[in-house]
Amino acid sequence: MVALQPSFAVAVGIACMLQTATTTPTAAAHDYDAETSPPASDETANTGSGFSALTPSYYPPNGHCTSFLIPLPLTYTAPSLFATPDAPPRWTSPFELQDVLATLTARAAANYTSPVGAPQTYSGRYDVAASFCTPRTVDGSGREKTVLLATHGIGPGRAHWNTPYRPEEYNFVQWALGRGYSVFFYDRVGCGASSRISGFESQLATAKTVLQSLATAIKAGAHTPGITAAKVVLLGFSFGSYATHAAIAETPAIADAVVLTAFSMNASAINLNGLVRSFVPRIAREENPALYGDRDEAYLTWPSVLDLVMNYFKLPSYSPSVALFTESAKQPFSIGEFLTFSSPASTDAAAWDKPALHLTGELDYIVCDGYCPGVFEEPARTLYKNARPLQLSLHPGASHHVFFHRNATGAFGVVTDFLERNGL
Ligand SMILES: *[C@@H]1O[C@H](CO)[C@@H](O)[C@H](O)[C@H]1NC(C)=O
Ligand SMILES: *[C@@H]1O[C@H](CO)[C@@H](O)[C@H](O)[C@H]1NC(C)=O
Ligand SMILES: *[C@@H]1O[C@H](CO)[C@@H](O)[C@H](O)[C@H]1NC(C)=O
Repeated sequence: MVALQPSFAVAVGIACMLQTATTTPTAAAHDYDAETSPPASDETANTGSGFSALTPSYYPPNGHCTSFLIPLPLTYTAPSLFATPDAPPRWTSPFELQDVLATLTARAAANYTSPVGAPQTYSGRYDVAASFCTPRTVDGSGREKTVLLATHGIGPGRAHWNTPYRPEEYNFVQWALGRGYSVFFYDRVGCGASSRISGFESQLATAKTVLQSLATAIKAGAHTPGITAAKVVLLGFSFGSYATHAAIAETPAIADAVVLTAFSMNASAINLNGLVRSFVPRIAREENPALYGDRDEAYLTWPSVLDLVMNYFKLPSYSPSVALFTESAKQPFSIGEFLTFSSPASTDAAAWDKPALHLTGELDYIVCDGYCPGVFEEPARTLYKNARPLQLSLHPGASHHVFFHRNATGAFGVVTDFLERNGL
């Protein structure tokens, strides 16, 4: 293990303190460090603790919520990663990882084959940790039978949708329950309480395959205790939006509407080399063995909250205490997810003829290189030309974490207004 620099150790220390203090729903801005948490109970530690527990520390008071593991036996085809002879080699140490990242982002990359290689077959049993919430009070609209199936991105786990921190302002599940909808949200494989798989496997196609399987099962009546789904809306954040887009482009029958947040289809505005540098990826288990020691060396994380902020947040439109919270809740990401996240950006969704909403922060650093107007609209309109309707919305002032900036409820309202207007 590499020696930790003092500033880094301090940052991790803060993150660890915060991780134990995430259960108080009503902390006011900037006093987060002062909050204390109730003692952890054994019932909430089925497969881990903190943000790796099957049962989350917080459920919205306006929902009936349960959490469960779903076993998915899956076989799928996807690129091999770092497996071709002329690609940069797999690493075993932090020093080798830095060398691979330097090679991939420098002029020398031209002399190597892409690490995203020829297709191979992957197969296994993938256990997916999921939560389902349905409104405590049915409002007569019938909307509780519309299930929002939410796929998180790179950085958070399933708590992205169900934050325990200042839920009145930032908890999307609570908001959606209040509008009468049910929400199914899950940890992608490799994250939270879902199966650990190799980071040299987990990639966009893995997430797409899991999502197609879950959506098909939910539409057939499974995994929604208390109700039977009449309609399924796929909701994504970032990597989860690209996976959702790829899924519905290929199998449009799995859903009745899509909502893609922190998403753009204009690949020329995604600066992948720049992102490899600004994410400052490190081997997650070396950075924090206590939290991430059960992942292989292909799972990565950024070193500090400030790296998160550069990529996900923009002043003056966020509160630093919210950034500190999201850092404390972070999950590692795999090299495969990182290198393939935008691969479906140019995939045509011509077969999709149902409602589609793309909702992205105006100043999204990751998918628009910091400024969306002018790049966000095309080729989205062309590739979603048959959507009925396609709504393109930019949320003012926000960067990538569009649901964790100030006025997050404004963004939530764009989503639920869109669904209501379209009869969902
Ligand atoms: C790439 O390979 C060419 C041909 O072998 C060689 O001349 C060149 O120095 C290499 N460039 C880098 C950056 O390694
Ligand atoms: C991406 O945006 C740029 C800048 O507006 C535009 O020139 C380009 O045509 C767009 N790409 C596609 C594929 O439409
Ligand atoms: C809040 O968000 C909504 C939806 O994006 C937007 O219309 C509104 O202008 C925002 N309000 C402020 C004060 O930025």
